[in-house]
Amino acid sequence: MEVVICPSPDEVARLAAAKVSRVCRDVGPEVVIGVATGSSPLALYAALAEMVAAGRLDLSRASAFALDEYVGLPPGHPESYATVIDTTVTVPLRMDPARVHTPDGFSSDIEAAAKAYEDAIVQAGGVDVQILGIGSNGHVGFNEPTSSLASRTRIKTLTPTTREDNARFFDSLDQVPTHCLTQGLGTIMDARQVVLVAQGEAKAAAVAALVEGPVTSMCPGSILQLHRYATVLVDEAAAADLTLGDYYRFTYDNKPAWQRYLAGL
Ligand code: F6R
Repeated sequence: MEVVICPSPDEVARLAAAKVSRVCRDVGPEVVIGVATGSSPLALYAALAEMVAAGRLDLSRASAFALDEYVGLPPGHPESYATVIDTTVTVPLRMDPARVHTPDGFSSDIEAAAKAYEDAIVQAGGVDVQILGIGSNGHVGFNEPTSSLASRTRIKTLTPTTREDNARFFDSLDQVPTHCLTQGLGTIMDARQVVLVAQGEAKAAAVAALVEGPVTSMCPGSILQLHRYATVLVDEAAAADLTLGDYYRFTYDNKPAWQRYLAGL
């Protein structure tokens, strides 16, 4: 696992965008990107959008798969992840809406919708680079603590913590759905590369558990310790609880030139 501690949230976004765009260029125009919702990747998406606007990145033939979707929000609901991904990813990155997918959380057959989503990812050739945030309780996607480390896309019940964390997007806590459809941890682990971003002190404990704790379903993100190509980019506040912070800084500062794919845009 590569851990990069950045001096600011802006630098997290800049380096994460450099990493993601490098994968996009290496893979080619039909790259498949896994996209997260929530606040954490917004600046990263904005940085990618700048590259697209400047003609330095073309995602018009790329595909995207969102990590998750609330169950029960009708199509077009402003807080459905389909709508959020459209606004924050599809439009600014000038992607083809037909190639941007979210699980169908409004399906009358949720199990079939989960299977269809897994099949669609396989049919697209698998995810080349998965963008992740992390919940304050260690979840990735909506794989809440005690999720199976081998899980695939399925329905999950949101924890009270997650519903409270996400209540800021709704008028009241009551309006936050209780269930979601989420890619499983096994699904996420199938991505060829993973780029996780976290900012702010509220994420410090989860980041430390993910990077340095035991691999345990109590911190679902800790499964990423078993991923061959996982990059974790955090600002100083989110890095505050890391035991080996100085080592990660030293490692990044002393990267061999050929490994410096993260540097500069
Ligand atoms: C979003 C998702 C979640 C979020 C996490 C952090 O699709 O799957 O795992 O990444 O809840 O959310 P923010 O970034 O809003 O703190």
